[in-house]
Amino acid sequence: MSTLHVVDHPMIQHKLTLMRDMNTGSKDFRELLKEIALLMGYEVTRDLPLEDIEIQTPICKMTAKKVPGRKLAIVPILRAGLGMVEGLQTLVPVAKVGHIGLYRDETTHQPVEYYCKLPEDIQERLVIVTDPMLATGGSACDAITMLKKRGCKNIRLMCLVGVPEGVKKVQEEHPDVDIYVAAVDDHLNENAYIVPGLGDAGDRIFGTK
Ligand code: PRP
Ligand code: URA
Repeated sequence: MSTLHVVDHPMIQHKLTLMRDMNTGSKDFRELLKEIALLMGYEVTRDLPLEDIEIQTPICKMTAKKVPGRKLAIVPILRAGLGMVEGLQTLVPVAKVGHIGLYRDETTHQPVEYYCKLPEDIQERLVIVTDPMLATGGSACDAITMLKKRGCKNIRLMCLVGVPEGVKKVQEEHPDVDIYVAAVDDHLNENAYIVPGLGDAGDRIFGTK
């Protein structure tokens, strides 16, 4: 069974409260999501392997630690997952970025695939899938399946808000994928929206409603 990591640092909780508030506009919403993604990135990358390198400080030579290059890929689920990319890139500037396009059918709530473009060497990388909302879990599960079909073996899922139903689905279908969220909310409503949640993340990021 994969591990659910609830990254609930006080600053993350504070910023998430601002994002949930319906009076927060798109500009602030995007900025807060970027900041939280960077902060959550510390936990998602906590156990990255390090290698030793020899360097010269102004005082002497030393053996120091370095994260090896070509280790990470960030894969946002379009559209809303895009809002978490910049924060992670600030933390890991050399990470490559792939894109998976999925939208939920409005009546069935099932994910529909419309795009997939990934770095060529993605199978060799730790892949961080980003999507602010883990609702039914359908989109996350399909995105992870698409990555596995292309050879990815080391995948983590980074969301902002989840619900127990979505967490359970991902854990059952992909027991090897650890999940990182800032909060686990109460339940899904009749439209499969997270309650209390923050509304439609894509619309709030891009101002489409
Ligand atoms: C939202 C969200 C997730 C998905 C979560 O995307 O960004 O991708 O719903 O729901 P699920 O867990 O039930 O699959 P949406 O389909 O609204 O597309 P958008 O990001 O393009 O707005
Ligand atoms: N997608 C969203 O953007 N919000 C939800 O609450 C559920 C799915």
